[in-house]
Amino acid sequence: MSPAVPIARRSKSLSAQFGLTERIFASSEDRATAASVEAGLELVEEGLLRELSFSDSMADVTSRYLMSAGGKRVRPMLTLLTAHLGSGVNPKVLRAAEAIEITHLASLYHDDVMDEAEKRRGVPSAQTVWGNSVAILTGDLLFARASKLIASLGERAIILQAETFERLVLGQLNETAGPDEGEDHIEHYIDVLRNKTGSLIAAAGQMGVVFSDAAPEYETAVMHFGERIGVAFQLVDDVLDLSPRSDETGKLAGTDLRAGVPTLPLLHLRRRAETDSESADLLARLDRGIESGDSPEFTAAIEELRRHQVTADTLAEAHRWAREAVEALAPLPNGSVKKALVRFADVMVERSS
Ligand code: IPE
Ligand code: IPE
Ligand code: MG
Ligand code: MG
Repeated sequence: MSPAVPIARRSKSLSAQFGLTERIFASSEDRATAASVEAGLELVEEGLLRELSFSDSMADVTSRYLMSAGGKRVRPMLTLLTAHLGSGVNPKVLRAAEAIEITHLASLYHDDVMDEAEKRRGVPSAQTVWGNSVAILTGDLLFARASKLIASLGERAIILQAETFERLVLGQLNETAGPDEGEDHIEHYIDVLRNKTGSLIAAAGQMGVVFSDAAPEYETAVMHFGERIGVAFQLVDDVLDLSPRSDETGKLAGTDLRAGVPTLPLLHLRRRAETDSESADLLARLDRGIESGDSPEFTAAIEELRRHQVTADTLAEAHRWAREAVEALAPLPNGSVKKALVRFADVMVERSS
């Protein structure tokens, strides 16, 4: 049986969240950019509903399931924001923003199958409701719809989307396969993050530059920014995976750990365990938990990992990537877009969901 499609949880104004409307500091340019991004996001929302409708009654329900469950719309917001480096939001920018969010959504359907995640955006994951095949096929339908939208934007967009998608998939594949013999585990992991998450966030920013006819040299700056923010974002995600606040994250604590998905706190712990017996003891308890499944001991070990130095180190590393993301913005003109992107970097590492 299909559950009722949940009401969207995206209530807080995104541009307010990104500090664009803080009255005391906001210039009239900031406020105009914020209003335009907000208005654009509303149009993207309408566009998503329009693009994710199918005459097939099952596809019509499954394809909008995760979209309606919530989500931060970080990627379309970035596209709309970087469009203000050029002529601003226009129909092409909106279509690009929609295509990027649909690509992201599609990857979530697939990712939850791969990660055996029970919850997504606060609701049961698609495969929990309909099974693996329907979840995988729904992700494929979404990829098809994203491709259709992108095709209408011409070859430049098609190539960017294809290259991004290839990187995203290779990131997921390399995460699954693990490092090669002799390869540094942490370097391999960071590369995975650049590909599976950084690539799409970078493309989101690039699309805004390209389709607003902004100066071409801004594209590289925005691309580096997006990729580095993607890594920071994903490292924060690793920390949030350990959070007991499933009401905020919309996921269960330790989902990645339980599914054996590597995260930086665990990789750091493995390295420490080579020389530190307390770390080795915690690692052994976590490994036992991963093998034998849910138990109060495993929950306690996850909590211990959350409070461990390796998790603080992961957060510090996320902040470092965010700082480097901001450094990449040097070629951009000073103004509301740059200000908002800097704020965006802060919000990404301070987020709790
Ligand atoms: C989750 O991305 C998947 C990752 C790449 C970390 P988001 O945290 O942007 O997910 P939503 O769209 O807000 O649900
Ligand atoms: C999701 O990565 C990345 C993609 C969907 C490409 P994760 O598996 O680490 O993210 P969450 O924790 O499920 O959102
Ligand atoms: Mg996952
Ligand atoms: Mg995953």
